[in-house]
Amino acid sequence: MKMSFLLNGEPVSTAVNTGTETLLDFLRQEAGLCGTKEGCNEGDCGACSVIVTGSDGAAQPMNACILFLPQLQGCSVRTVEGISGSDGSLHPVQDAMILKHGAQCGFCTPGFITTMAAAHANGETDFDTALAGNLCRCTGYAPIIRAAKMAAKQPVPKWMHEPKFAANHNSSDDIFCPQSTDDLAQWYSKNPHATLVAGGTDVGLWVTKQMRKPAPIAFLGHVMDLRQIKDHGMFLSVGAATTITSLMQSIAPISSSLHAMLARYGSTQVRNAATIGGNIANGSPIGDGPPALIAMGATLVLRRGSEHRRLPLEDFFISYGQQDCQQGEFIEAVEFPKDQTNLRCYKLSKRFDQDISAVCGCINITTEKGIITKARIAFGGMAGTPARAQHTENALLGQAWSAKAFTEAKETMAQDFTPLSDMRASAEYRAQIAQNMLIRYYHDLENNPTDVRGVHA
Ligand SMILES: Cc1cc2nc3c(=O)[nH]c(=O)nc-3n(C[C@H](O)[C@H](O)[C@H](O)COP(=O)(O)OP(=O)(O)OC[C@H]3O[C@@H](n4cnc5c(N)ncnc54)[C@H](O)[C@@H]3O)c2cc1C
Ligand code: FES
Ligand code: FES
Repeated sequence: MKMSFLLNGEPVSTAVNTGTETLLDFLRQEAGLCGTKEGCNEGDCGACSVIVTGSDGAAQPMNACILFLPQLQGCSVRTVEGISGSDGSLHPVQDAMILKHGAQCGFCTPGFITTMAAAHANGETDFDTALAGNLCRCTGYAPIIRAAKMAAKQPVPKWMHEPKFAANHNSSDDIFCPQSTDDLAQWYSKNPHATLVAGGTDVGLWVTKQMRKPAPIAFLGHVMDLRQIKDHGMFLSVGAATTITSLMQSIAPISSSLHAMLARYGSTQVRNAATIGGNIANGSPIGDGPPALIAMGATLVLRRGSEHRRLPLEDFFISYGQQDCQQGEFIEAVEFPKDQTNLRCYKLSKRFDQDISAVCGCINITTEKGIITKARIAFGGMAGTPARAQHTENALLGQAWSAKAFTEAKETMAQDFTPLSDMRASAEYRAQIAQNMLIRYYHDLENNPTDVRGVHA
């Protein structure tokens, strides 16, 4: 299949044979653009960062190592080679990196420059968050952050504005790039063994780390009606191909707690690609989206052909690696009530940024006249699937809202979960921190300081 996109402002057209050719390999091996570096080849280090501008016009940094070429049909890609002007003028972030001594060995520098240039183009000033997906082993981050702050005062160079580009969205027998959910539903019911790729932040690693060769493949990134977020008054319906970045924008006015947790989901580059549908469908027991959505009372909308069915999200996860999803069926949307005043989401991981949760606890409790009338408590990292703490919920229901009720209820959590030990945490530690999260919730809603970064001696 042939596909085309803009590369540093110029149209390029290339043959795609398997659909799993990565942008990083294309840049370095086909296009001769070796400025983009390969570090981890799994989305963790940001050395391969490029700027991708899609049909919505947003310039987003992404990891080229886990971006498959068909995901880029009709997009504009800007690599480090396209960051300076054609007359050799440096971009303000390049100037600032020189002046602030932001590079030593220089291996990470192209990735930093592209991520910083994207932040600069978007007027982003929270540089700790914007650059959390770029690792530097030798310079240290302070000079780099100083450079980003210095560059922020300069205007966006004219050459950074991507020209308009209209490309056909081509498909072949084994590589399907649907334009609508209806097209996808029809094709997938005829090709039920196909692999769906949304953001590719999981599937990318199947290819780069496990050397798998999925075929046939359908790419969901260009199915615009699968990326819509619809406001139905009392509830939101979020299309499965909505990226975590887009979801965060809609979540901000609904739950600042969930928004803050999603800001720690992978990195900017990962959130720009990863979708909420992929985060649910992969069935991971340590994904961050499912516990939050279960605590929110979310309903999953599944589709096979023209048939739809709805189920409470917690019922989708049957056991480790097994989800309630038929052959040829896919996630179309996830729906949840907009009133999430009492939702709190706690992610515990070894590092603050760019790390998978050891335990993710999401708690949502309603009281009427001081009595607990509803309790939805969901955890990731405590069982083979994301799951509700039903014994703990039952222990709280009907109790007066009090420290005593929470202290007593936490003792029942041992009946809900038998967590495992692994490299992220021991079973004992998991059991302890899940209990602590419940107590934290009580204090959080009492407006006592609970964020370790906000507690001062
Ligand atoms: C560096 C890095 C950091 C990460 N950090 C986090 C983190 O902090 N928290 C976290 O929760 N996850 C994290 N992840 C995991 C990953 O980003 C998420 O699980 C992500 O949401 C997957 O979405 P995707 O669109 O990229 O999925 P894809 O890789 O495209 O697909 C994943 C799976 O879902 C299936 N699928 C996709 N869409 C659908 C659909 N609509 N219907 C049915 N099946 C579908 C695919 O076939 C595949 O089996 C991280 C990953 C990386 C590489
Ligand atoms: S090479 Fe490390 S994120 Fe791509
Ligand atoms: S300058 Fe050496 S890794 Fe960043």
